[in-house]
Amino acid sequence: MSNSIWRKKPMSAYEADIKNNKLNKVLGKWSLTAIGIGGIIGGGIFVLTGTAAHYHAGPALALSFVVAGIGCVFAALCYSEFASMLPVEGSAYAYAYGTMGEIFAWIIGWGLILEYAMGAMTVAVSWSGYFNKLLHLFGITMPYYLTNDPFSGAQYAIDNNITEPAAFSFNLPAFLITWLVTWILVKGVKEAANTNNLIVILKLSAILFVIIVGVFFVNVDNWHPFIPEPEMVKHADGKMQEAYGIKGILSGAAAIFFAYIGFDVVSTSAGEAINPKKDIPFAIIASLAICTLLYILVSLVLTGMLNYKDITGDALKAPVAYAFDQVGQPWAVFIITTAATVGLVSVMLVMMLGQTRVFLGMAKDGLLPDFFSKIHPTFQTPWKSTLLVGLVVSLVASFTPIGVLSDMTSFGTLFAFAMVCLAVLILRQREPNRERPFKTPLLMLVAPLGIITNVALMSLLDSKAQLFAFVWMGIGLVVYFIYSKSKSNLNE
Ligand code: ALA
Repeated sequence: MSNSIWRKKPMSAYEADIKNNKLNKVLGKWSLTAIGIGGIIGGGIFVLTGTAAHYHAGPALALSFVVAGIGCVFAALCYSEFASMLPVEGSAYAYAYGTMGEIFAWIIGWGLILEYAMGAMTVAVSWSGYFNKLLHLFGITMPYYLTNDPFSGAQYAIDNNITEPAAFSFNLPAFLITWLVTWILVKGVKEAANTNNLIVILKLSAILFVIIVGVFFVNVDNWHPFIPEPEMVKHADGKMQEAYGIKGILSGAAAIFFAYIGFDVVSTSAGEAINPKKDIPFAIIASLAICTLLYILVSLVLTGMLNYKDITGDALKAPVAYAFDQVGQPWAVFIITTAATVGLVSVMLVMMLGQTRVFLGMAKDGLLPDFFSKIHPTFQTPWKSTLLVGLVVSLVASFTPIGVLSDMTSFGTLFAFAMVCLAVLILRQREPNRERPFKTPLLMLVAPLGIITNVALMSLLDSKAQLFAFVWMGIGLVVYFIYSKSKSNLNE
């Protein structure tokens, strides 16, 4: 084999991987769809909608959801073609390895850590926030030093003039929830899927509740003008930025993109699917379609209930709950807070599931140590890797101010989406006759548009997050040249 960084994994090696799969094949079409929905619906829809309406799109927030949804549909169609052809757990990483070469595959796998592990960390911190809100509703308040990382805890003490601040702060709920999720994932994919199914039913009910009840409180005047004239708006950090108009719809799409993340995790469950070639494409497309429709309806209801100009202060932190409080339905706050708290558990579950499966794919190819591919003899899960991911996620979530970095998660995801669109195009050219149980329709249009939309959304993300993401990719390249290149199975 060549020693080049551009070497590609032969298709026969994928077939061997599929044959030697030791994971438990228990996931059917609807469990896979629920994994997609479990990953997608989370804090994003309940929180980011306010910021996106006030600072970016106004009532045209629904169009921001359409734009981001279209970017995702392009990617979802390309993911589906690959997943039907190569039902292996490495997802975007694995697809790139056979088409674009090892260095690309590695950097995508490394980038996916931003999406899955870092995503799980930010969600763990959000979960802690929601959990505390829920406790508040029952009149319970946890001390600040048990609900904040050390940096945010110290800041909290200063902001609140606490004269004798605690020596140390630690985000206990974020830590505990991560270990609960880790334990479920180690126990078995069936257990994880069953827990996820239950949570998905609850989440969908809450979203339908918001739409069906909320529509009675819509004031159509709030939708006029639907696309407000562009104007400069001052952000919380004092920065002035142009909002509204067409540009506002686009920057709004980048701001709410986080809410869509998750459907691609379905493709990492290929090794555990009963009939991956058919069911994975179905689940990717179905979960995305269901959530896109719900998101568009929620955003219409929200901007109809609240005037986008009035979404400031507390309304920005929990806009959907705030909207119901404003129209004299405070009990709805309880339902929404409970749904978000429980709902975020399945987002973590799905993201950590995705992370361990991508590591498994990379370890099978020799790019990561064997540790990541050890399967438990009874549970049939990559248990060592799951415990390590749990350890890292729990420590970072409870000890660092990671909660502000959700844009990095979006960056890693958009990068993977764009690469999958490119990879599917390359493989169609290179191996046009290979069997494709699912074929992306109008690929020559869909794939380039997918690349353009996802790269454009990447360029609209917070510039600090972009910088951190590039640094992260740089570290990835160093690891590749120091370790992975020489360990790759393709050296043999
Ligand atoms: N889409 C997930 C959420 O909104 C990550 O929480």
